[in-house]
Amino acid sequence: MPEKVNFDLDCPVIPFISGDGIGLEIWEASREVFDKAVEIAFQGEKKVEFKEILAGEKSFKKNRVWLPDDSLEKIKECKIAIKGPLTTPVGKGMRSLNVRIRQELDLYACIRPVKYYPPVPSPVKYPEKVDITVFRENTEDLYAGIEWDAASEEAKKLTEFMNKELGATLKENSSIGIKPISAHGSKRLVVKAIEHALVNSLKSVTLMHKGNIMKYTEGGFRKWGYEVAQEKYGDKIITEDEFYGKYKSEMPEGKVLIKDRIADMVFAEVLLRPEDFDVIACTNLNGDYISDALAAQVGGLGIAPGANIGDDCAVFEATHGTAPDNAGKGLANPCSLILSGAMMFDYMGWNRVADLIRTGTSKALKSGKLTHDLASQIQGVKQVTCFDFGRQIASLIS
Ligand code: NAI
Repeated sequence: MPEKVNFDLDCPVIPFISGDGIGLEIWEASREVFDKAVEIAFQGEKKVEFKEILAGEKSFKKNRVWLPDDSLEKIKECKIAIKGPLTTPVGKGMRSLNVRIRQELDLYACIRPVKYYPPVPSPVKYPEKVDITVFRENTEDLYAGIEWDAASEEAKKLTEFMNKELGATLKENSSIGIKPISAHGSKRLVVKAIEHALVNSLKSVTLMHKGNIMKYTEGGFRKWGYEVAQEKYGDKIITEDEFYGKYKSEMPEGKVLIKDRIADMVFAEVLLRPEDFDVIACTNLNGDYISDALAAQVGGLGIAPGANIGDDCAVFEATHGTAPDNAGKGLANPCSLILSGAMMFDYMGWNRVADLIRTGTSKALKSGKLTHDLASQIQGVKQVTCFDFGRQIASLIS
């Protein structure tokens, strides 16, 4: 947790990026909910000042810059921000703005709690069994942005070097990407995951990896995860060996079980036995996949919140993209951003505001008046616009 300078004020400044596509719509709907929850929680004694900072298409149209330095500086200064989704053109050589924000602010933990909100339609029989928080490493792995096109000089040089000097057998004209995974990056992520489990009295942290194939990168993540668990929390955690041996399959009171699973098994097990997972700590690419799959398991991306947290600041964001097919039509579901806002208020220590937002959202989802993504799947439900749904949540906060 960073110094609480900004959050301790009666009117902290929270920078926001409305985002591209459906971003503007979901932001407007969310803002109304945030203001109402703060008002009810503090009866006017505290407020927040949402201050717009530019990024994405809005910024490019105005200043021909996709991500101005000023915006990053403002986030550093305020130690917090909330954002809608930003467009990244595929394969056009432009690096994802989201990845840049995470890397430049060293927001190394991407946290995605996945929980079921009835009556959201889900493809599985018991979605209510899912209550899992994914801690995805956010700065390393194949997302470090170290890759070259097959036709580039760099790829050719690297291929030649690896074949000649390192005994590799890379084919000519291979595109090459590098997958760096460090002890430092893995350990600090696993620490965040274990802290979360301890603070919330959760039973287990699962290290998800593909170390059977990628022994030094994914395998390193697993090894360093166990190491840091022992080094920092030796008296608070147990391993599976200890669980089955010393503790004879009885979980000792107040301890967290640290286990590990191969990534492909995790996908199967979260479907078959989701109740066996409380926290999943994983490398960047695995985390990207598993968090979207889990979100689908409870009914989709429209209600899945997320946070990117470092040691100095945090950015909260809807986990879905800009949904260009829905943009400007009032069809978007604002819940992902609204619930990301609840995570933000928890992070600030304004837990009452967060609780009000979650309760209001949960009630609104049961109201029979829903946005298009849900209304189109549930019989007898009235469809309302994104903004009206936000207004409905706000009206249910009391
Ligand atoms: P997407 O998440 O925008 O859309 C996938 C599907 O989910 C679409 O059918 C969309 O209509 C629907 N959807 C997403 N959010 C919704 C919501 N709140 N309410 C109702 N329906 C919703 O993913 P896609 O199409 O792959 O990406 C579009 C753009 O967004 C790309 O430029 C991509 O790079 C960017 N993106 C940005 C992210 C971010 O800013 N964190 C994350 C993911 C994608």
